[in-house]
Amino acid sequence: MRRAADRGETRYGADVTSAPYDHTPVLTGLGLTLRGVVEGDVATIRSISYYDGRAARDDDDAAAMLRRIHADVARGDCLHWGICLQGSDEVTGTVGFYRGFANGIGEVGYVLREAYRGRGIMTRAVRIVVAYGLGPLGLTGVEAHTARDNAASRALLLRAGFLEAGSVQTGGAEARVRYVARGERSGGPATPTEA
Ligand SMILES: CC(C)(COP(=O)(O)OP(=O)(O)OC[C@H]1O[C@@H](n2cnc3c(N)ncnc32)[C@H](O)[C@@H]1OP(=O)(O)O)[C@@H](O)C(=O)NCCC(=O)NCCS
Repeated sequence: MRRAADRGETRYGADVTSAPYDHTPVLTGLGLTLRGVVEGDVATIRSISYYDGRAARDDDDAAAMLRRIHADVARGDCLHWGICLQGSDEVTGTVGFYRGFANGIGEVGYVLREAYRGRGIMTRAVRIVVAYGLGPLGLTGVEAHTARDNAASRALLLRAGFLEAGSVQTGGAEARVRYVARGERSGGPATPTEA
């Protein structure tokens, strides 16, 4: 099966090579393949498509959200991966850096389709993305902000090597718990291969 990067469906092309974070590398490891998300994935990921905190209403809305994410990627503000089990091209969830890279810090975000939860998939995906961020991408730190009552997300972050570091107030919403991963504390054996 051809991978997304081979299909020529993405806009990760020569037109954006001047941006600092202008491509979405394929990362493999820990039984997963992380690849760029393409238009052909929209129906699969509609249930987990969000932008600016809003869920997609339908496939067209999810496609529009994906185009906005791709524009953010082209501007160097974002990296967005689809998570596939190795040997499959079906996207089970998404993970990425969604809020820019100010001061060399990336904020990781993630969501998994319900049918795939509870198998450790996202713990592995986050480990891979953190290792890539603190390694080849050259970030000095990775943060994650999650709701206090999101037990699955908080357990995942601790297992992926993050440390709790206070809270952050975002807008009028309830403060979110802040987690940080830096250098060798980023946790674990993930050594993703950039294909
Ligand atoms: C959070 C999320 C990504 C977890 O993905 P996942 O692949 O199921 O996570 P994992 O299986 O890798 O790990 C989840 C951990 O949380 C634990 N967990 C799961 N549900 C839990 C719950 N309700 N209460 C306590 N712990 C829970 C799991 O047991 C596991 O820890 P353990 O192996 O030590 O027991 C998934 O639930 C999801 O997509 N949620 C909606 C989106 C979201 O909340 N994103 C985070 C926003 S910052």
